[in-house]
Amino acid sequence: MKEEKLRELLGKMSLKEKAGQMFQASGSLYDENSVLTGPMKESGFTEENLELAGSVIGVQDAAAMRKLQERYIRQHPHGIPLLFMMDVINGYRTIFPIPLGQGASFAPDLTRRCAEAAAREASASGIHVTFAPMADLVRDARWGRVMESTGEDPFLNGLFCQAMVRGFQGDHVGESGRLAACVKHFAAYGAPVAGRDYNTVELSEHTLREYYLPAYKKGVEAGAEMVMTSFNTVNGIPATGNEYLMRQILRGEFGFDGVLISDWTAIEELIAHGYCEDRKDAAYRAMRAGVDIDMMSGIYPEWLCRLVESGAVSMEAVDQAVWRILCLKNRLGLFENPYKDAGETAEKKLFLCSEHRALAREAAARSFVLLKNDGVLPLCPETRVAWIGPYTDTRDLTGSWSFTGDKSAVSTIREILPEYTAHTEGCPGCPMLDPEKDLRTLTEKQMEFPSLAERERMMREAESCAKKAETVVLFLGEHPMQSGEASSRTKPVVPKIQMELFRRVSRVNSNLVVVIFSGRPLEIREISEKAKAVLVVWLPGTEGARAILETLMGERTPEGKLSMSFPWDTGQIPVYYNEDPTGRPDLEEKKEDRFRSRYLDAPNGALYPFGFGLTYTRFRVSPVQLDSSVLYPGETLKASVILENTGSRQGTETLQLYIRDVSASVVRPVKELRDFRKVTLLPGESREVTFEIREEQLRFWRADGTFGSEKGRFQVFIGQDSSVREFENFELL
Ligand code: BGC
Repeated sequence: MKEEKLRELLGKMSLKEKAGQMFQASGSLYDENSVLTGPMKESGFTEENLELAGSVIGVQDAAAMRKLQERYIRQHPHGIPLLFMMDVINGYRTIFPIPLGQGASFAPDLTRRCAEAAAREASASGIHVTFAPMADLVRDARWGRVMESTGEDPFLNGLFCQAMVRGFQGDHVGESGRLAACVKHFAAYGAPVAGRDYNTVELSEHTLREYYLPAYKKGVEAGAEMVMTSFNTVNGIPATGNEYLMRQILRGEFGFDGVLISDWTAIEELIAHGYCEDRKDAAYRAMRAGVDIDMMSGIYPEWLCRLVESGAVSMEAVDQAVWRILCLKNRLGLFENPYKDAGETAEKKLFLCSEHRALAREAAARSFVLLKNDGVLPLCPETRVAWIGPYTDTRDLTGSWSFTGDKSAVSTIREILPEYTAHTEGCPGCPMLDPEKDLRTLTEKQMEFPSLAERERMMREAESCAKKAETVVLFLGEHPMQSGEASSRTKPVVPKIQMELFRRVSRVNSNLVVVIFSGRPLEIREISEKAKAVLVVWLPGTEGARAILETLMGERTPEGKLSMSFPWDTGQIPVYYNEDPTGRPDLEEKKEDRFRSRYLDAPNGALYPFGFGLTYTRFRVSPVQLDSSVLYPGETLKASVILENTGSRQGTETLQLYIRDVSASVVRPVKELRDFRKVTLLPGESREVTFEIREEQLRFWRADGTFGSEKGRFQVFIGQDSSVREFENFELL
């Protein structure tokens, strides 16, 4: 529709119709097949609310979408189409690895392709907007939603956020097979105190600007059509009512002019937060902060008209919000074709098509991180292996945001073993969880636990199976419901019953490979000490089982690198690589000095730090060479190393460039990732790898509240992970 006509339409709308556009209802209120992704309100909405709502969340197939859209447009006073939104996080019908796994691939371009495929499938079902990417930076493995993040590094998160926005949206959201992206959760939702979901966030301006905000900004710069507010407070003010965050930073500094939506009932939650007196006050504060769409509170349709009539909220403010919503509908082409790509034929053609499945397999395999390998991997086809563990027999490999996925398309490890080896002996060994408090909010009724006697029988079966084998592969990990929204854990560890299985099996066979499934970093010290090899496979998605077996058998080589540190002990959490130096660093040469910043009972660093990951070959990196010892603004400095494959197989290394600003007006971290490069080398091959360093990469949030660099000395590290020690110096002039 031409802009002029759209303006005319806005002009014709009543205030009530405008407030309607600013309300999003759950599809389940219209259609019982829709998925519910948040708590349903007890108090119902009025019929009028539903007739005028501008968008719905959760309708999940083309037929339902078409039916609802048709019915809705027919009754709407101006025939304005509905916007259909949904969480398409790591895939729609074909499920890719969880975002934390995608982060570990260090391959944003691969993630862009996954987002493209997800957009094709979802738009065929009539979805217009996805509530992704989640750009929240994470440092605390207790928080269940770290699985939806790409990790602890602002630079890496920014690249992934950008890649997902581009993948979902393409060049134009109106094109067929594209979705509008919604960057979330603005802001700093990933930093709740003590890792408890929805909890308070307290961050200094410096930490917020330097670490937590950059990835959202990248998403906005990549053209994201929408942004979602977060549930949490930021320094005492709930994000959803936070004018400073929304108006000054998001709209003002980042220049975001798309649609801002609240998270699920977040406007209503301003009351529980103790920020608003009542629903009227909540509507007022959310409007003041500039929230365009109220997801599921019903507060906007209830109060906006009255607030405008009383003069508390201006008509201009409402018009601005509605205009943004209408413009998005228009960019999606909904006034011309309200169904966009929705069609059962398209669904059939695209869902789980071979192209998407192949991509899912590649993405899964490239997300795996090999943490340890004492020469047992890859396995020889002749080796007599016992395949043990609760993860051998489950289709639950897709993560908590995969409700649109097709579980029946997921193979279990056990089912496909015969395609990879003649030695298929094995058993589950134990249930996934103890019948204890591993999942406090899920009732025991939802989970069936075998009796004590049955559990003992399962363990014995595993022991006897392990005894007979040359090598044991144990498939262990968190239950899929232990990570995701509202799944915080005080101790991110492998469930107790599985650790018992691990100990009993390791007693009878020390030739042990452990494959770990998880939505977050876990404390795995004991496993790592006793096992010969450890492979982390996250929640790998539809093609997970095949990607795992192909990797174990050596058809694929692991190349993933941790995008979030694995703690040595849960008591270190939050533990992350880019911390600030202290005045009393824990130095090797000061080992005898008691008054140092350290634990008495644990090292300071992670067991496996950010950027860590092995391959099936070995690489050597030469010392860094700089082409100059000074850098002038506007020029580039070249930093090079020689990378050599010293092993006997082809492999891909991800070389990482870290920089440290030695002294500045604000303390700078011990190291910051500034670039990385994947290099594939044949055995014996070596290659010179050169990175370019520019002044822009040295900028930070300075003591005077501006972004910029400061002259002085910098250290350059190039290595295989964030623990790299050798560096070279240069001076910024
Ligand atoms: C989550 C969001 C999600 C929304 C809609 C909320 O509970 O925090 O990430 O997009 O529900 O499903």
